[in-house]
Amino acid sequence: MYKNEEGVGQGIKESGVPREELFITSKVWNSDQGYEETLAAFESSLQKLEIDYLDLYLIHWPVPSKGKYKETWKALEKLYKDGKVRAIGVSNFKEHHLDDLIKDAEIKPMVNQVEFHPHFAQKELRAYCREHGIQLEAWSPLKQGELLDNPALIQIAEKYGKSTAQVIIRWDLQNEVVSIPKSKKEHRIITGRYGSH
Ligand SMILES: NC(=O)c1ccc[n+]([C@@H]2O[C@H](COP(=O)([O-])OP(=O)(O)OC[C@H]3O[C@@H](n4cnc5c(N)ncnc54)[C@H](OP(=O)(O)O)[C@@H]3O)[C@@H](O)[C@H]2O)c1
Repeated sequence: MYKNEEGVGQGIKESGVPREELFITSKVWNSDQGYEETLAAFESSLQKLEIDYLDLYLIHWPVPSKGKYKETWKALEKLYKDGKVRAIGVSNFKEHHLDDLIKDAEIKPMVNQVEFHPHFAQKELRAYCREHGIQLEAWSPLKQGELLDNPALIQIAEKYGKSTAQVIIRWDLQNEVVSIPKSKKEHRIITGRYGSH
């Protein structure tokens, strides 16, 4: 859906970084849900990325109106059993979607990637996932940059001599949430420092 797999594939090649040092995730988009469709979408992702396995593959949204997330999950289970992906999971699934999926699943989702940040702490979902051994992963952990101007967070950052973004990411980690902050700025990516510039 992001139309970035070819670019990422090219980036991986040009970087010269060994494949095993990278953790690569992709997701099956809503219009590709269904057993055969998902298997085909997965192969297409591998081709575009020019790699032969993924580290994590997720169902992007449950889309209950389509009624296909269970067949889609069956395809993910097959890909996992065939060794084509090292972990499988879902994204944007609420507790009732997970209950319904797990009821008929052979393998429980290993990850649930959801919106998570200090303005949306997802307490109940987090407790549910912990109870079921599902790793919560935070999308838009900086609320797309909006939280970086938050006075309370700025105050905490000043107190500890860190950037606001570092405080947010630390909060994710202390809550045992995997965080995937994004930046297009080379210096932020290279240094791993999420400063104010
Ligand atoms: N599963 C889903 O449905 C779903 C939905 C939304 C997002 N996601 C995933 O979540 C990941 C991250 O989410 P996101 O990109 O929406 O939001 P985000 O990581 O919360 O925020 C990214 C924004 O914050 C800015 N930013 C980063 N560090 C900064 C800093 N130190 N100071 C000021 N601005 C800073 C970035 O600007 P620059 O680029 O200019 O640095 C960018 O505009 C993405 O990779 C996306 O794939 C998943």
